[in-house]
Amino acid sequence: MASIVTSMDTEALMQIGAIVGEKNCSTRIADLYTYGFDASIHHVTPDVVVQPRSTEEVASLVKLANKLKIPIVPRGAGTGLCGGAVPLKGGMVIDMTRMNKVKEVRIEDLYCVCEAGVIYDNLQKELAPHKFTFPPTPGSAEACTVGGMVATNASGMRAVKYGGTRDYVLGLEVVLPTGEIIRVGTRTLKNASGYQLERLFTGSEGTLGIITEVTLRIVPKPKKMAMVLAGFDTLEKAGRCVSALIAKPLLPSAMELMDSTCIRAVNKAINAGLPDVAALCMIEVDGDPKVVAEELVEVAKVAESIGAVGLQQTDDPALMSKWTNARKSVMSALSRYGEGMVSVSLADDMAVPISRIPEAVVAFGQIAEKNHVVIGTYGHAADGNLHTKMLLNPESPESWRNGEKAVAEIFDTCVKLGGTVTGEHGVGISKAPYFQKERATAVGAMAAIKRALDPNNIMNPGKVQEWEDGCIIQHLRYPCPDQKD
Ligand code: LAC
Ligand code: ZN
Repeated sequence: MASIVTSMDTEALMQIGAIVGEKNCSTRIADLYTYGFDASIHHVTPDVVVQPRSTEEVASLVKLANKLKIPIVPRGAGTGLCGGAVPLKGGMVIDMTRMNKVKEVRIEDLYCVCEAGVIYDNLQKELAPHKFTFPPTPGSAEACTVGGMVATNASGMRAVKYGGTRDYVLGLEVVLPTGEIIRVGTRTLKNASGYQLERLFTGSEGTLGIITEVTLRIVPKPKKMAMVLAGFDTLEKAGRCVSALIAKPLLPSAMELMDSTCIRAVNKAINAGLPDVAALCMIEVDGDPKVVAEELVEVAKVAESIGAVGLQQTDDPALMSKWTNARKSVMSALSRYGEGMVSVSLADDMAVPISRIPEAVVAFGQIAEKNHVVIGTYGHAADGNLHTKMLLNPESPESWRNGEKAVAEIFDTCVKLGGTVTGEHGVGISKAPYFQKERATAVGAMAAIKRALDPNNIMNPGKVQEWEDGCIIQHLRYPCPDQKD
């Protein structure tokens, strides 16, 4: 691979300033520090941060970077949980949030076109008056950008019924690592023409190019929604409830699982008022009002047959939004749960076949105990996607070491159960060595594609298949001694 420049000379900075304008380009210490991290555990300081306003500006920046071999990291809102937007090799962070226009909403053609920096919830607001939606519903919906969602193939609560981002990407405009602007995919719902390059860039985590515009399929909003809250005396029973509902067959629009650590954390942090039980299933059904009413009865029957306690159900929008908000707050609430502890994203979004959820959650409990770490388990269980957040003392090297051992065991368990190390957040840094182990036969082909598109290796270098270290507990954004930066 070509060598990489990590400190920028004045001439390069002047050229960058000339492309985006001086005020949209910064080397101020505070900006460099801030753009050195996302929502993961990692931090590395870039050399310059730029905020382009157009695809042409992005292309000019990339051409310059390719000529000077400056590393580039594209960035949406920085809500990623595994270091995808952390500039591991320094260089230029390209903040896409000024490219924030919804360019077209074409209801009768079932698509919309957005610049990459459009925030998910802002797009939803544009679609709402038409009674349409872009359904993936990531946990960071208020902040994350559609470009970031495509780059990580993000999803969330409703993926079980509606799929993840990749299921909605019809076409993309991408700036390749050479600076060439290309269009992949189409604006039609069907497309059987050639390699599905829009799929290749979806989930590429900024390693193959910069996504500047996204054409997304949109769907009508369901007419009615209702929810059931079912408590269980073990997490294993909650897991069994999930697979029993799916096998019924029923297809809820969301089925969220929370363990007692998560329940207590949100009750303490935001006074969520959830029942203090060992585990909860929060089940949402949607569709035609008559069908929703019938499905509510069926969901309750299945949950009762597994031993649910304190069943509650509602179609009151205020109560549903209170429950959903409680679920969405789990991650931030866990960070305030234990004195001197932070909740870290390490093994945070594994996916297993749905029928293996009960085994997986039991194993997570045993792994936590064995490695002396507190683990909160929750997740979008109906598609087998489980989050574990570890509570660690960020200043203790021992705490990090225990965490890392637990992470490795959790990932091994999930892969043995037929699962994967990441279902919705991506690989970045935090999962790279485990991903490489899981996809051992595929990383060579990935590296070949990367070399073909990015011969100077300027696009988000060092991540995913390129990470060279087994240990992920480094480049930390916490004041932990005993680690590299
Ligand atoms: C959530 C994020 C962590 O589901 O994916 O809350
Ligand atoms: Zn999630």
